[in-house]
Amino acid sequence: MCPVDERNRRRHDGEMTTISDIICDPPEAGKLFDPAVAFGSAGPFELEIGCGKGGFLLRRAQSHPELRLLGIEWANKYFKYAADRMARRGATNVRIMRTDARHFVIHSLPPNCLSALHVYHPDPWPKKRHHRRRLFQKDFVESAVQALMPSARWAIQTDHAEYFEWIREVTSQTTGIEQTEYDDPEFGIAKASARTNFEIKYRKEGRTIYCLAFRRTQ
Ligand SMILES: C[S@@+](CC[C@H](N)C(=O)[O-])C[C@H]1O[C@@H](n2cnc3c(N)ncnc32)[C@H](O)[C@@H]1O
Repeated sequence: MCPVDERNRRRHDGEMTTISDIICDPPEAGKLFDPAVAFGSAGPFELEIGCGKGGFLLRRAQSHPELRLLGIEWANKYFKYAADRMARRGATNVRIMRTDARHFVIHSLPPNCLSALHVYHPDPWPKKRHHRRRLFQKDFVESAVQALMPSARWAIQTDHAEYFEWIREVTSQTTGIEQTEYDDPEFGIAKASARTNFEIKYRKEGRTIYCLAFRRTQ
């Protein structure tokens, strides 16, 4: 039995969730990610890029068991922390993948697959000579829009004013999305708050949090 089938059998039989149930390998080069295989179930599929310790993902998974949630995290320490946290809390509708989210979105994410995309507090790379390392670049944004289903939502949050303007600029040059209310009760985020680990910390410090949301138009 392949590891994915074994994981789905164990989940079906009600066995305890382990970290290997949660961890999901990136697709091989040239192959696309298949949510049906990764989750062993059907349902709306959401992606969080840079999930860190997984605070937002866990809350969303617990309040919306019908969702399938993939968190991508590059830093090994946080990747392991988040995967272990999901396993301990029995969050069977979450998968955590360690990879470069930019590469994943451009090369491995099928078109029209996401019902929502979450990007909260992406690394701002404030020095000018590092701006090319920023996640929000034209090719990333265009690929992300292609991965959204019609009327799917893309929520973005940052504490960095200059990066926020950069994000607004690069997204404004992209067709296929329109700005929508960040505060969306249907979407399930209370009072526009994603409550990620960074958001909680920065709100305590009194920092301004900049928010932006889009819907795919076609
Ligand atoms: C500032 S933290 C924010 C974490 C979380 N979203 C939050 O709001 O609490 C940014 C996270 O994105 C991760 N990250 C940065 N670039 C990434 C990339 N290209 N692919 C995957 N994760 C990335 C970092 O390792 C870090 O954990």
